[in-house]
Amino acid sequence: MTLPAKRPVLLTGGSGQVGTALRRLAPLGWDIHAPTRAELDLGSPEQIADLAASRPWAAIINAGAYTAVDRAEEDVVAAWRANALAPAALAQAAAKAGTPLVHLSTDYVFDGRLDRPYRETDAVGPINVYGASKLGGEQAVRTAHARHVILRTAWVVSATGSNFVKTMLRLGAERPLLRVVDDQHGCPTTADDIAAAVRIVGDRLMDDADAPTGTYHFVGQGETTWCGLAKAVFAVAAESGARTPEVQAITTADYPTPAARPRNSVLDTAKITRDYGVAPQPWLAAVRKVVQQLVVPEATGVT
Ligand SMILES: NC(=O)c1ccc[n+]([C@@H]2O[C@H](COP(=O)([O-])OP(=O)(O)OC[C@H]3O[C@@H](n4cnc5c(N)ncnc54)[C@H](OP(=O)(O)O)[C@@H]3O)[C@@H](O)[C@H]2O)c1
Repeated sequence: MTLPAKRPVLLTGGSGQVGTALRRLAPLGWDIHAPTRAELDLGSPEQIADLAASRPWAAIINAGAYTAVDRAEEDVVAAWRANALAPAALAQAAAKAGTPLVHLSTDYVFDGRLDRPYRETDAVGPINVYGASKLGGEQAVRTAHARHVILRTAWVVSATGSNFVKTMLRLGAERPLLRVVDDQHGCPTTADDIAAAVRIVGDRLMDDADAPTGTYHFVGQGETTWCGLAKAVFAVAAESGARTPEVQAITTADYPTPAARPRNSVLDTAKITRDYGVAPQPWLAAVRKVVQQLVVPEATGVT
C-alpha cells in the first residue's frame, strides 16, 4: 500500500509563537516548509515572490509578522513591510498559482470603542502603527483575488517566544508587587489553539474548492483584562508551589506606552464556529496548560 503524498505547505513566521505551534501540531498530511528569517526576509517582496513560485504549494500560511507593538511606533517602515507588503506579495503569488492562503491578523485593527464583542463585519479603525499595518495586510490579501481566510486573533500566549504570561512569571519571581492594567478587555488565546484552528481551516481550503473564505475571528472563549489574566496566571502558578506576587489593578493612564491600545478588543467567534465547526475553549483552561508547562513543580521544591 502506498501512502498518499504529503501536501507541501509554505509557512512564514515558523519560529514565532503560532509558527512553532503549527510546526509541532501540523497534520500528518502536511509537509511544512518554514524558512528561517535568513532564508526569507518578509521585508523583501522579491524574495517572497521567488519562494512562493519555487514549487506548487498546496497552501500558504502567513504567521510571520512584525509584532512589537510599541517599537512599531518608531519603526513604521519595517512594520508596514512585514505586515502589509509581505502579505501583499504572498497574496499575489497565491492568486497567480491558485493556492489558498491563510493569513493571521489581529484584534488591534479595531479602535476598541464598541461596548460588545467585535464581529467580522464591524468597522475597523486602528489606533496604533501595528494595527494600521496589519489592516493594510488584510486589505492587500482581500483585494489580490487569492482564495483566502484572514484569521484575526488576539492576546497570544504560549510556552515559547515572548508574551504576557512569560513576562508576568518572570517579573513575579523578581518582585513582591506587580501593577497591571485593568481597563483593557480582551481574549487570551493560546498558540496551540490557533494552530488547531489553522489546521482545520487549511485542510478544508485544500480539500474543498467551495470552502468558506473571508475574514474570521478566533480567540479563547470569554474575556478578561490584563490584570485578570495576571491574577489567573499566578493562581495557577501558586498551585504548583511557585512564589507569587501581589497584583494591583491600575488604569491605562497609570501605565503610558508608546502605542495606544484598544480599550475593548474582545472578538466574537460565532462565524468560525458556524462555517468551520471550530469552537474555542475557555481562555482560562487554555492558559492553565501554558502556565503549567512554564512552572515546573520540581524547580520550586514542591513535589
Ligand atoms: N502576539 C500576539 O499577541 C498577537 C495578537 C494578535 C494577532 N497576532 C498575530 O498572530 C500572528 C502570529 O503572531 P505570533 O505571536 O506568533 O508572532 P511572533 O511570536 O512575534 O513571531 C513572529 C514571526 O515572524 C517572523 N518575522 C518577523 N519579521 C520578519 C521578517 N522581516 N522576516 C522574516 N521573518 C520575520 C519572526 O521571525 P524571528 O523569530 O526571526 O524574529 C517570527 O517567526 C501574527 O500575524 C500576529 O500579527 C499576534
